[in-house]
Amino acid sequence: MFKKETYIARREQLRKDVGRGLIILPGNHEAPCNYPNNTYWFRQDSTFLYFFGLQREDLVGVIDCETGKDYIFANDYDIDDIIWTGPLPSVKELAASVGVDNSGSMADLRKFLEGKRPTSALPLYLPPYRADTRADLAEWLGLSYSAVNRHASLELTLACVKQRSIKSAEEIEEIERAVETAYNMHVGAMKMAMPGRYEYELAGFMQGEAWKGNGPVSFPVIMTVHGETLHNHGHNNRLEVGRMLVMDAGAETAMNYCSDITRSVPVGGRFDERQKAIYEIVLAANMEAIRATRPGITYQEVHQAASRVLAEGYKGLGILKGNTDDIIAAGAHSLLMPHGLGHMMGLDVHDMENYGQINVGYDDETRPSEQFGLGSLRCGRRLQEGFVITDEPGCYFIPALIDKWRADGMHKDFVNYDELEKWKDFGGIRIEDDILVTADGCRVLGKPIPKTVAEIEAVMAS
Ligand code: GLY
Ligand code: MN
Ligand code: MN
Repeated sequence: MFKKETYIARREQLRKDVGRGLIILPGNHEAPCNYPNNTYWFRQDSTFLYFFGLQREDLVGVIDCETGKDYIFANDYDIDDIIWTGPLPSVKELAASVGVDNSGSMADLRKFLEGKRPTSALPLYLPPYRADTRADLAEWLGLSYSAVNRHASLELTLACVKQRSIKSAEEIEEIERAVETAYNMHVGAMKMAMPGRYEYELAGFMQGEAWKGNGPVSFPVIMTVHGETLHNHGHNNRLEVGRMLVMDAGAETAMNYCSDITRSVPVGGRFDERQKAIYEIVLAANMEAIRATRPGITYQEVHQAASRVLAEGYKGLGILKGNTDDIIAAGAHSLLMPHGLGHMMGLDVHDMENYGQINVGYDDETRPSEQFGLGSLRCGRRLQEGFVITDEPGCYFIPALIDKWRADGMHKDFVNYDELEKWKDFGGIRIEDDILVTADGCRVLGKPIPKTVAEIEAVMAS
């Protein structure tokens, strides 16, 4: 946990930005796996963590903009719980540890909220993403289950986005700690990426390294020799020379700040000519994004700058043809990268995605594109100092997509389909770094993880 002054200041800022009403921020419950007492690892809600910092399940935070008071509601554990859990702080003690003076039981919360019915004086809350939280809100506020998300507060959502988008020095330190763990995950897995191994061995190694850093992975590990499938979560393939292995994985710290790193390596440790050719193009796009990222530019513009580098590279290989500006305007290059350049990252690996991507990555000025590829960009808006975003260009030869575009005659003035046929068995490559927007540019977070062809070959040979 940060010191309690951090949470007091964050709540004060939220009160100021929202300005009226009662804000309810429910923490998460335990999530049962196959029976109630066998749970997945507990993951606190990120908004609750941001404003209240507490890791216990079943807590509810309330911020009253009218009276200036904050509350934590939950039931205390009794001896029947403590037999199993050991001694635990009371709700009052937990509240005090984050500068909250008021606390009560769940019965107290219900009584407290009764005065707030009906919907004309509805408290402000965020759209719930878990069914149990949604059911709680329905019960507390006298709403039907289906009405809960409809009444979620956009005003509160935008105030949370505003505050959480700018990372403080102490948050950046935590994120860098998560990248340190990702360094161990990735460098260790690179050394294991030898023929005869199985993807699951490397994926399991990475999960162990994450826990050794005192947190879970920040999302299920992607470890695949079929990197052309963007989020491939199968791990059953045997590693063979000639395949590129895409490793997309990150960790959470004990405070749940995240990292999200991708490295793509040749099984066996030596790039062949084709692998090197594609890798250098994707690397150049990754570096172009680092060059271009600074306050004041939109991430849509950075995406397009990186796309130009990709398109130029593919033209050099004869896969694309024509004028680069025209290729970009038409979106023909997106055949080989049907996703966006990156997303915000912080307490969530896709930070604040539960608020609705349009509220996080876009604003009145920058609207999402409707074009294939660019339309999947999760964060397109104008960058500010303190944003943490991912820079993750890739190249994917997706046979089904290539066949479909070819059959439909899509962008045939720009795509050399005959040449592309030769690459259909290649797989994919993605390179992903986590970057901080600084006053005059950006900085790649954490200890540098081997990224150039020479660096990767050297570490895999060691
Ligand atoms: N790991 C998912 C992503 O890179 O966005
Ligand atoms: Mn990733
Ligand atoms: Mn990512």
